[in-house]
Amino acid sequence: MIYISPSILASDFANLEQEALGMKAACADMLHIDVMDGCFVPNISIGPCVISSLRKKSDLFFDVHLMIQNPLKYIGDFANAGADMITFHVESDSDVAETIKAIKSLGKKAGIALKPKTDANVIEKYINDVDMVLVMTVEPGFGGQKFMADMMPKVKTVRDMCNACGREDMLIQVDGGIDNSTAPVVAENGANVLVAGSALFSKNDYKEAVAQLRSAAESAAV
Ligand code: DX5
Ligand code: ZN
Repeated sequence: MIYISPSILASDFANLEQEALGMKAACADMLHIDVMDGCFVPNISIGPCVISSLRKKSDLFFDVHLMIQNPLKYIGDFANAGADMITFHVESDSDVAETIKAIKSLGKKAGIALKPKTDANVIEKYINDVDMVLVMTVEPGFGGQKFMADMMPKVKTVRDMCNACGREDMLIQVDGGIDNSTAPVVAENGANVLVAGSALFSKNDYKEAVAQLRSAAESAAV
């Protein structure tokens, strides 16, 4: 099963409600919401109040990607704002186990994210506690960057590691440079949640764009 999570970073922020409704109508499985603090990454995006407003307009599953220095401090805010899954970076300042615990205690799904230079084995001890592992396929911070094909061995390692721990059900997300040509490559290596910003929101027909991305991945899924 392949899940498509359009990243609203590439959407029209002045029309977020319409963009979210458009992706729902296009059969997207979730909405990827990038939160950047200008500290963990050199860019600033949106925070809990925008998510909270959007929550009132959309019933899509909110896949919130925190690129912030101190995620633990804000888990409550993002949970209250309406996040369904909260993914944070292992490279952040927060204690990883504590942060997962905080997310879970609020009844949300938890994800851990790895920047390109971070080794897959740092997440091994958390595998049984999380719902998703995000392997970044660009340096976090900006949309529209070039896909890093050299992250594929890491995706494969994470998939093998999860399977070895009996977590065949683990969601493995890839984020950055995903389009119809890179989707088969990530799926072949075991990713099953594809984030795409520019590749989807640049298209006029969201439904066709989501369907094409899904079928490109499904054709190669393991
Ligand atoms: C980058 C963000 C991504 C970004 C992806 O730091 O985490 O979610 O929106 O954008 P594209 O799909 O355009 O590479
Ligand atoms: Zn993201």
